[in-house]
Amino acid sequence: MGDSSAKVELGGKASEYKILSGSVGPDVIDIRKLYGNTGAFTYDPGFTSTASCESKITFIDGDQGVLLHRGYPIDQLAEQSNFMELSYLLLNGELPSKAELEKFSGTITRHTMVHEQLAQFYRGFRRDAHPMAVMCGVVGALSAFYHDSTDIADPHQRLVASHRLIAKIPTIAAMAYKYSVGQPFVYPKNNLSYTGNFLNMTFSVPAEEYEIDPVVEAAMDKIFILHADHEQNASTSTVRLAGSSGANPFACIAAGIACLWGPAHGGANEAALNMLREIGHIDRIPEYIARAKNKDDPFRLMGFGHRVYKNYDPRAKVLGKAATEVLAKLGKNDPILDVARKLEEIALTDPYFVEKKLYPNVDFYSGVILSAIGFPTTMFTVLFALARTVGWVAQWNEMIADPEQKIGRPRQLYTGHTQRDYVPLTQR
Ligand code: CMC
Repeated sequence: MGDSSAKVELGGKASEYKILSGSVGPDVIDIRKLYGNTGAFTYDPGFTSTASCESKITFIDGDQGVLLHRGYPIDQLAEQSNFMELSYLLLNGELPSKAELEKFSGTITRHTMVHEQLAQFYRGFRRDAHPMAVMCGVVGALSAFYHDSTDIADPHQRLVASHRLIAKIPTIAAMAYKYSVGQPFVYPKNNLSYTGNFLNMTFSVPAEEYEIDPVVEAAMDKIFILHADHEQNASTSTVRLAGSSGANPFACIAAGIACLWGPAHGGANEAALNMLREIGHIDRIPEYIARAKNKDDPFRLMGFGHRVYKNYDPRAKVLGKAATEVLAKLGKNDPILDVARKLEEIALTDPYFVEKKLYPNVDFYSGVILSAIGFPTTMFTVLFALARTVGWVAQWNEMIADPEQKIGRPRQLYTGHTQRDYVPLTQR
């Protein structure tokens, strides 16, 4: 094993572990035999030092603020590609030819309708339910409607399920919105782009024509690109863990949606905009900065900080620029953008944030754009889930095809009672 191994000495017994190198990024110590050799587990809550799988899809260099999908930098994809092309890239590993893209887009377009009975399913929810609660339920229910694509051992069924998920998630998300505002569901239209179709299903009403604003369509598409995948984050790891037991893909994506909803993850975009609105004016920023720094106050600056990025989140860079452009093009002058800019400026020079390397993340500016487009904050995480579905599906497919794949089963450091005898109720 030579230099490419790590030695562990435990209880006077030495054992060696291979070092594996990826194409880029930190080496990993292959500790699969550690327990067998030493009888000890590793302890790593939150997986801060643990690679849970091998992957070829997305690479992040958190110190440099780099995000690559299949090797392509996110800023190039956001500026030059579109969400359908990116989806093909994530799923297949290479950029499509013109014919491949047309075929893929055509397939996705022809799967956008949902089973008519699914509409009845929505009616079981309260109108004031959070749309993410509705998304968890409806996506979870898809395996009951599309049972013919739940055999994960069949590559054709896996492909069909993947297409169905990517195609139907905008319809499901738009229906969640329509249900919450009491408007009729709008059917998909095959002559529109993926993103244009979503906007139409969300904002059009039967009573009048809805014209898709190309500025809004382009901004929305960019937001989808920027949220499409982010390697082994909490929700993606949830999808993989759920899928590792052989669960069907619809159930796995529903699990991912449930995880994404948390305010430390995708729920932060809603929390970030609510926070900016609560701050309301640049004069109040110092008060909130002080709260974020106070150890006795649970408040955190939402949209700031990241487990992996210890530099500017490259997605936030693209979105910060897009926020200014979109608001100007839409002729909207939201004072929230001024609050966001000033907050960023102050935080980036404050020693607390500088020392802890806390920079704006993807959620910091996305809400400003989504709000200008007309989405209520409760829809923000739904849009994140919509875009992330392609990443989850790509990662799920990669996992199923991986010969090294095993059921995910972490171990623990047990600190509870040791064995003791049961005491009958009368003697307690
Ligand atoms: N405001 C104030 N202090 C912060 C913040 C923040 N937003 N984020 C981290 N810190 C502090 C934290 O208190 C800790 O301080 P200390 O070392 O003195 O205890 C230190 O920075 C490290 O924080 P951590 O919680 O140990 O770091 P983590 O890697 O476990 O958490 C995070 C990462 C994203 C959960 C966290 O930064 C956070 O809660 N941010 C706000 C929520 C947010 O914007 N989430 C979106 C993440 S990006 C999109 C996505 O993943 O969905």
